[in-house]
Amino acid sequence: VGHSLNTKSGEAVEHAIENASTLPSHYYVAPQLLEKEKGSIFWRTWQIVGRSEQVRNSGDYFTADLLGEPLLIARGIDGTLRGFYNVCRHRAGSPAEGCGSRKVFRCGYHGWTYGLDGRLLNAPEMDGVKNFCAEDLRLRPIHVGEWEGQVFANLVDPNAEPPNVEPLMDALRELPLQVAKYNFGKMRLCGRREYHMQCNWKVYIDNYLEGYHLPSVHPSLNRELDYNSYLTTPFEKHSLQASPIRGPENELSVDRRYKQSDGDLSAEYFWIFPNWMLNCYPDNVSLNVVLPTGPETCMAIFEWYFPPDQGTAIEETMRFSDEIQLEDGHICEVVHRNLKSQSYDTGRYSVKQEQGVHHFHLLYLDAIHSGG
Ligand code: FES
Ligand SMILES: [Fe+2]
Repeated sequence: VGHSLNTKSGEAVEHAIENASTLPSHYYVAPQLLEKEKGSIFWRTWQIVGRSEQVRNSGDYFTADLLGEPLLIARGIDGTLRGFYNVCRHRAGSPAEGCGSRKVFRCGYHGWTYGLDGRLLNAPEMDGVKNFCAEDLRLRPIHVGEWEGQVFANLVDPNAEPPNVEPLMDALRELPLQVAKYNFGKMRLCGRREYHMQCNWKVYIDNYLEGYHLPSVHPSLNRELDYNSYLTTPFEKHSLQASPIRGPENELSVDRRYKQSDGDLSAEYFWIFPNWMLNCYPDNVSLNVVLPTGPETCMAIFEWYFPPDQGTAIEETMRFSDEIQLEDGHICEVVHRNLKSQSYDTGRYSVKQEQGVHHFHLLYLDAIHSGG
């Protein structure tokens, strides 16, 4: 239908929310756009690929798949965490599988071996090959970083130097200070679920970024959060939605615990461009990572973290969160289907309630139109 992806961001979504219309629907359904999003957005941002506890000691490693790219993360003998494409330089076998601890990686295809630092150590039966230089045949490196117990990878050109690749801690901006009080890095992972949805990943992010739908879509969550005091604050590359937790009249067990604490209780929902979120409550944090699995499908990974001494309420918190997620997944699938209707192109934002969505759309358009 002649969808042009060449519009300048200013033309697609106005910078002043009062005048703006939402991201046009073709951005949610164009089949060719996902490859562009990888190059312009996913390979240019720090992406969560695992947890520090998986690579605590020298020799520890894990493999990961990031939007189809096979990755290998390993802690070297020198204690340095490194990342590579998990792709053998011979004929593209896999140097490592799963996770565990190793002194060397041995490709499962013809047995080339690589060090924990990615160097090619041994390539059997390659005598007589001209201009064969093992030094040039290291596993291709990627940038890695760690923060609060999470391992991040950045797949921008491995030779890129700052400012082309911004160090993880710089890229996170104010976030580390803003979430420091939750001690997320000291919590332990108590549960993990993957939700597969028939909607574009941006439909799911849009939905996350507003509390406007709370009364209609999540009546039970709406009883817990003070919807009228919902406050969205956009930052450069992330945003915060804060909502006071309702007082003691609340029936949920989760809140009966909260009422014993002092000070204001709030839930803080951080979204970090483009695709991950930290949901911070007084006694637990959940991490969401949203990944496209196709142009019209996505997956949300949920991980629930609790303080080590937390014995109760884990099941109840996860069950409640699961219920909310199913409600969100359902509405997102309905919206994705309807975005494809020939009757719909774009809508308007609520200035009061949809600032976070507008902020995401501007960041998205900036990124997608700035090359890559
Ligand atoms: S593909 Fe790895 S050794 Fe041949
Ligand atoms: Fe929701």
